[in-house]
Amino acid sequence: MNDFVYYNPVRVHFGRNALEALADELAVYGPRVLLAYGGGSIRRTGLYDQVMAVLTEAGKQVTEFSGILPNPRMEKVYEGASLCREEKIDLILAVGGGSVIDCAKAVAIAACEEEDFWQKFYVNWEEPKAAIPLGTILTIPATGSEMDKDAVITNPVTGEKNSYAHPLLYPQFSILDPTLTYTLPKEQMVNGIVDTMSHILELYVSPPDTDCLTDELAEAAMRTEIRAARTALKDPQDYDARADLMWTSSFALCGMLNNGKKTDWAAHCIQHPTSALFDVAHGAGLAVVHPAYLDYICREAASRLARMAVQVWQVDPAGKTEEETAREGICALKKFFREELGAAASLAELGIPKESIPQLVRLTDLSCWSYRELTAGDVQKILEACYEE
Ligand code: NZQ
Ligand code: ZN
Repeated sequence: MNDFVYYNPVRVHFGRNALEALADELAVYGPRVLLAYGGGSIRRTGLYDQVMAVLTEAGKQVTEFSGILPNPRMEKVYEGASLCREEKIDLILAVGGGSVIDCAKAVAIAACEEEDFWQKFYVNWEEPKAAIPLGTILTIPATGSEMDKDAVITNPVTGEKNSYAHPLLYPQFSILDPTLTYTLPKEQMVNGIVDTMSHILELYVSPPDTDCLTDELAEAAMRTEIRAARTALKDPQDYDARADLMWTSSFALCGMLNNGKKTDWAAHCIQHPTSALFDVAHGAGLAVVHPAYLDYICREAASRLARMAVQVWQVDPAGKTEEETAREGICALKKFFREELGAAASLAELGIPKESIPQLVRLTDLSCWSYRELTAGDVQKILEACYEE
């Protein structure tokens, strides 16, 4: 196990009545609240009215910051930061999924900054001076943004989709009510399940292979996610399944699964340009890219992937080499994504032409690897494999 520092300050309110905690959480902040949300799902589900009622009752002056679309772009961050400065915002309340929360996080640090936030944080990785406090109400379990310190933003001019991470980006509180996810369309639910599996895999398929508590937790998290996904697909109103999906996605990126590992985000780094250039949903792209990446590193990561095959997919290793067992595990993962969840099996299915591979390779961050160094040529081969169904 490698040495590590563990820190996570997010106060989580979880459960059917979690929204009741909002009033007390609001009480410690000044009166001016920026209410950040997406394309309108919270208005359709009635959550907007519920949240506004609590804000009004608490005497808050609300500034609306709506229309944050999936794969949020830098223009939206400039817009939010200007609103925060003009209205002297005391708290940002993000209501939605990873896109809304990530945009709100970037706004929180951009608003306290005179320089261009993209250049300063997303290109130069400099330290933020300060951040406006942020609270979240999560409506889709997927990204873990509600419990992590990352914010992923797209620059449509350069085609980059970059992640910035800093402790100031941890939300002060996050409200997680699984019943808020009942209204998710199946496709969004599937994207979230794939993203959660992918986060756990990024951390689990990382050296050292010394089999520690972190690995056991990751296996339990994958088994829980698979079981809950199967139940929720059959019965979308099954509370316990929705609760497991929500908590597993937050847990996956709360830091617990990083402890002692050399974390590897290679599949994410290869997927991000597909969203930046073609606006593909993050989870939909990962369903294709992640298994292709695991296939590619299977020889070097055979021991770890064979362990996954046995512990997560119940593959019988008898009479097989480690690599054969590992490949059976990857096949089981693909079958789960494609046959059980109905996710896409190739980038062509997602509308990404094969001719775009060189451009996608150019936009891939090549610094993220663990079992084997990835060159542009390797990424090219992985992306080519994403066209073989
Ligand atoms: O925009 P609205 O109207 O809210 O609709 C959303 C959106 O269309 C809809 N939705 C959300 N909750 C709903 C609902 N519809 C009905 N009922 C509900 N309860 O779902 C759609 C997708 O929402 P989005 O926020 O885009 O999904 P997700 O949570 O998957 O976020 C994806 C973004 O997060 C980034 C991704 O790259 C992508 O930009 N990520 C952030 C990470 C982080 N901060 O740590 C890590 C991840 O790996 C990821 O990169
Ligand atoms: Zn992800």
